[in-house]
Amino acid sequence: MTVRPASFPTARPRRLRRTDALRAAVRETHLAPSDLVAPLFVKEGLEEPRPVASMPGVVQHTPDSLRAEAKELRAAGVRTLLLFGIPARKDAEGSQAWAPDGVVQRALRSLREDHGDDVVLCADTCLDEYTDHGHCGPLGPDGAVDNDRANAAYARAAVSQADAGAHVVAPSGMMDGQVAAIRSALDAAGHAEDTAVMAYCTKYASALYGPFRDAAECAPRLGDRSAYQMDPANAAEGVREALGDVAEGADVLLVKPAAAYLDVVWRIKAATGMPLAGYHVSGEYAMVHAAAANGWLDHDRVMAEMLVGIRRAGADLVITYAAGWMARRLGA
Ligand code: PBG
Repeated sequence: MTVRPASFPTARPRRLRRTDALRAAVRETHLAPSDLVAPLFVKEGLEEPRPVASMPGVVQHTPDSLRAEAKELRAAGVRTLLLFGIPARKDAEGSQAWAPDGVVQRALRSLREDHGDDVVLCADTCLDEYTDHGHCGPLGPDGAVDNDRANAAYARAAVSQADAGAHVVAPSGMMDGQVAAIRSALDAAGHAEDTAVMAYCTKYASALYGPFRDAAECAPRLGDRSAYQMDPANAAEGVREALGDVAEGADVLLVKPAAAYLDVVWRIKAATGMPLAGYHVSGEYAMVHAAAANGWLDHDRVMAEMLVGIRRAGADLVITYAAGWMARRLGA
């Protein structure tokens, strides 16, 4: 005799778990290659692609290797790319971020030439890769990032990225009012209709960005980013940030990191109904590789589980360094 729950004498959920076909038939969440966004790094003056030690499979690209990787990703079904640039020269203002021939602007032009509108080109709109001090905006006399000067710089950078062919600009600096500043600058520059804003509305001051800072060469020289990025303990504040960005004109919202903040992904999707991206960040990616290299975890299964988890929590788009790998696996 089998013991069954008293209130549902006939319930046997295991009936639908018996075979692979049954499990597929009742599966709720499907990750598709077109849900994946690949972050890519391009570095000015590099002669050969340079591997990022803490992120196996990720490289800093030359302009040519970037074009080659974009083609491979597209062939695997990944249709959205997020570009980060590392300039040859950095200064206190981060002025290479809006240089018309800056490293990202040139990369955008070449990718637009290769793919036209078949691939969505997103550009990270921030200054930390471009400032010599590594903060996300110019510093004021007190050493803190000057919010409004940062916004003015983001607006210039966004317009130059849009001019170079970005379909989407992605402000990641967590300055107050950054979406409104960028939106009105884009509108005034003739990009009201052709350039969307994907807003990092809820970006935490996370130690999980460690490997990225090697890849993008942007670790702050002094201090950390806690005075502008969010406290990891706060979720309701994340929803308020999201609602604020919607009011300022954001087209897509973004939560980062994603895997350690799935409740925030869920809450923001429920509160706004907006298109939403979850960023599976460098540390989340590196942890899986490191554990797998030790023989402690199965890389393929854990990576796939984390990425579908982000989708299940409510993200429409999953930004991940494993985008190419995941897309090829899904296609297989
Ligand atoms: C800032 C930026 C960061 C990341 C993306 N954009 C780093 C930071 O805030 O320190 C982190 C991404 C990752 O860890 O994968 N422009």
